[in-house]
Amino acid sequence: MAQRETFVLVLLLLAAELMFPKIKAMSVGSRKRSKEWSGGDGEGSFCLSWRLAVEANNVVAWPTVPPQCSRYVETYMINGQYDRDLELIVEEILAYVNQTFLVGDAMDAWILDVDDTCISNIYYYKAKKYGCDPYDPSAFRTWAMKGGCPAIPSVLRLFNILLDKGFKVFLVTGRDEETLGQVTMNNLHNQGFIGYESLILRNASYKGKSAMKYKSDVRKQLEDKGYRIWGNVGDQWSDIRGDYLGNRTFKLPNPMYFVP
Ligand SMILES: *[C@@H]1O[C@H](CO)[C@@H](O)[C@H](O)[C@H]1NC(C)=O
Ligand SMILES: *[C@@H]1O[C@H](CO)[C@@H](O)[C@H](O)[C@H]1NC(C)=O
Ligand SMILES: *[C@@H]1O[C@H](CO)[C@@H](O)[C@H](O)[C@H]1NC(C)=O
Ligand SMILES: [Mg+2]
Repeated sequence: MAQRETFVLVLLLLAAELMFPKIKAMSVGSRKRSKEWSGGDGEGSFCLSWRLAVEANNVVAWPTVPPQCSRYVETYMINGQYDRDLELIVEEILAYVNQTFLVGDAMDAWILDVDDTCISNIYYYKAKKYGCDPYDPSAFRTWAMKGGCPAIPSVLRLFNILLDKGFKVFLVTGRDEETLGQVTMNNLHNQGFIGYESLILRNASYKGKSAMKYKSDVRKQLEDKGYRIWGNVGDQWSDIRGDYLGNRTFKLPNPMYFVP
């Protein structure tokens, strides 16, 4: 375009801005709104900071997702970013798995958490404003009793590779053994988690104890039996803190709830 025409165009645009300030205000407003979910200076930006702090275990013992982050967490969970984050972590886990040389005495172990690690509660949390509503143990039990949690595909893929490699995979969950044992086993089975060494659930002696304490004790018992825990994967910090953690731990994302 000739310089002169460009100059005229710029003049026209300037004149339009001066004559129609409302149009400009509107366009700024809509830009701000769309920025909210993509990380500008709106609520999305706050929610992104909040989620990062949660994942880094800087924000702890949070009872609910901040109310202004319901849409943000929903978008994160269902619009692909959560799945991509999981896939990247699973690739990192597989790179580590590739470097391991198993002893091959059937004592090479790997630990996976169950809820929001192997199988997903995203449909349950959808009805709980993605974690903005307070934790509701009886509603969660009702949901879990249906045995309809879908597999998390990237973790199912990891699970099968671990089995192929020769790991003994232990699934360790804070779910109550008495009420949810059978249905959890069925749910894992119907989602393709087949061939693990054992599913360890919380029994009466761990009622009221923190997940960190309970899971540490479970891992200690496995090591006392002679298992070498090569890796430990969970969506909660309480899965990967405490004692007898294993040689590598991996934290999966979960911005919907915190388990102490
Ligand atoms: C692991 O090793 C296999 C076989 O050598 C290879 O195909 C795969 O790309 C490796 N994966 C990673 C994440 O390094
Ligand atoms: C409860 O679970 C723990 C850890 O798995 C185990 O050591 C203990 O024997 C169990 N207690 C009962 C009563 O089953
Ligand atoms: C795993 O950790 C244990 C205990 O820290 C250590 O003795 C062992 O050498 C580690 N194994 C590998 C393969 O890194
Ligand atoms: Mg979990």
